[in-house]
Amino acid sequence: MASPVEVKKICCIGAGYVGGPTCAVIALKCPHIQVTIVDLNQSRIDAWNSEDFSLPIYEPGLDDVVKACRGRNLFFSTDVNKGIQEADLIFVSVNTPTKKNGVGAGYAADLNYIELATRQIAAVATSSKIVVEKSTVPCRTAESMRTILEANSKPNCRFDILSNPEFLAEGTAIDDLFNPDRVLIGSLQTPEGISACASLTAVYANWVAKERILNVGLWSSELTKLAANAMLAQRISSINALSAICEATGANIDEVAHAVGYDSRVGPKFLKASVGFGGSCFQKDILNLVYLSESLHLPEVAAYWRQVVEMNEYQKNRFSKRVVDTLFNTITGKRIAVLGFAFKADTGDTRESAAITLIKNFLNETAYVNVYDPKVPHEQIWQDLQEAIPNKPLETIQKQVTLSASAMDACLNAEAVVIATEWKEFKEIDWQTVYDSMKKPAFVFDGRLLVDADALRKIGFKVTSIGRGGV
Ligand code: UDX
Ligand code: ADP
Repeated sequence: MASPVEVKKICCIGAGYVGGPTCAVIALKCPHIQVTIVDLNQSRIDAWNSEDFSLPIYEPGLDDVVKACRGRNLFFSTDVNKGIQEADLIFVSVNTPTKKNGVGAGYAADLNYIELATRQIAAVATSSKIVVEKSTVPCRTAESMRTILEANSKPNCRFDILSNPEFLAEGTAIDDLFNPDRVLIGSLQTPEGISACASLTAVYANWVAKERILNVGLWSSELTKLAANAMLAQRISSINALSAICEATGANIDEVAHAVGYDSRVGPKFLKASVGFGGSCFQKDILNLVYLSESLHLPEVAAYWRQVVEMNEYQKNRFSKRVVDTLFNTITGKRIAVLGFAFKADTGDTRESAAITLIKNFLNETAYVNVYDPKVPHEQIWQDLQEAIPNKPLETIQKQVTLSASAMDACLNAEAVVIATEWKEFKEIDWQTVYDSMKKPAFVFDGRLLVDADALRKIGFKVTSIGRGGV
C-alpha cells in the first residue's frame, strides 16, 4: 500500500448546513490542519466572516467553534480555485436538491452542483487530491465524479475519491460532530483507495475513537446514508400511523411509544409522534431510494419506501383537517396562530417544514394566519409560502398572513393556536395570559406533544394533541 498522504490543508466546497459546521469542527479539533471553506455565494461567505459572528446558519454552539479558530486555521472565502489548488483533501458539500425537471423529476437528486464542483476541481487542480463526497448523493455518484476527474485531469494529478456521508442532525450538529455515533468512510478497495481512506481516518482520529471510524466500500457508504435516513424516517411514519389509530380509539400515543421503546430491540429514540417530519434530508433521501429501486426494476421495494413519505403527507394534511373539523368545520375568516416555522427546534432551517403545509392548508380554507418563529428570518417565511402557493401573488398571501414579533403577539385575538415546532419557549409561555388575550372558546392544537394538555384545560383551553382523542 502506498503510504497515506498526511493531510495538511483541507478545502471544503459549500459553506452550508453540512460543510460549515463539519469543517469548522475539523478546524477546531485539528489545529495543525488549515481548513478553508469556500462558496460561490458572496453574502454567505461575508456572514461567516462577519465581525459580530452573525453566521449564516443558526446552530447552538457553532459560534463558539468559529470564534475559537477563524483566522487561526479556519478561513472562509469565495476564491474556490485557490482553495482547491492549495488543498490535499477536498470535501464536496454542495447542495443536492430533488430534481424539479426532466428525467426523475420529483424523485432523483439534482447532481448539477456536484458535477460543476467536480469539473472545477479537475480544471484547476495542479497536484494530486483526495476528493471526498460529503453531500448526500445517490449511489454511484462517486463513480461519476471519478469519471469526470479522470477524463479531465492533468499529468501527475491523481484523484482518489472517498465517500464520507454526514450524519449530523440540525440543532445538535456540534454535539453530533464532537461525539459521533460513527464516522463512515467509503473507498475503493484498491491500494490507492485504502491509502486515501487512511489519510481521512487520521484526520478524524484526532478526536474520534478508532472503533467508531468505519471503513467500508464506496457503494456501501453511499447506500448507508440513504438507508440510515430512510429507516429513521420510517420510524416516525410508523409512530405517526399509530397516532391516527390512537386518536380514533382513545389510546395515548406517548404511552404506546414509551412502552414499545422499552423493548431494547426497538429502543426509545425517534418515536415521538408529530405533525410530520421535515428537513432537507428525510424526504429527499427516501425519494432517492425510491428512484434507485425503480431504476433497478424493484417496484415493490420502491412502493415500500414511497409509503413512508406518503404517510408523512397524510399526517400533515390529517392534522390540518383536524383543526378545521374541531373549529366547527370552518376556519373561514378565523385567525389562527402558528407557533414555529422551522422544521424542528433549535434551527432556523425551514426546508420541507410541516408548518409550510399547515399554513398552505389554512390559507386554502381562507383563514387568517399569524406566524411566529424565534429564529427563521421573515424573508425566508415569505419565500417559502410563495414557493408553496405559486398561483397566488405574494401580496395576496400577505393579506392573509401576519408575521408576529413574539408568540404572545401571534396569539392575540386568535381563535386557535397551532404548535408546529417544538421550541422550548412555547412550553414556557404564560398560557394564562395567552388565554386571556384570545377569542373564546380558545383552542390549542399541539402538533408536537409539547405542552401539558391537562394544565391548559384547567385554564380553560380546548386542547387537541396528536395521538390522543378528545378536546
Ligand atoms: C436527519 C438525520 O437525523 C441525520 O442523521 C442526517 O444527517 C440528516 O437528516 P435532521 O433532518 O437535521 O437530521 O433532523 P432530525 O432530528 O433527524 O429530524 C428530522 C425531522 O423528524 C424533524 O422534522 C423532526 O421534528 C422530526 N422528528 C424527529 C419527529 O417527528 N419525531 C421524532 O421522534 C424525531
Ligand atoms: P447542505 O444542507 O447540503 O449543506 P446548503 O444549501 O446549506 O446545503 O449548502 C450548499 C452550499 O453549496 C450553498 O451555499 C451553495 O452556494 C454552495 N455551492 C453550490 N455549488 C457550488 C460550487 N460549485 N462552488 C462553491 N460553492 C457551491
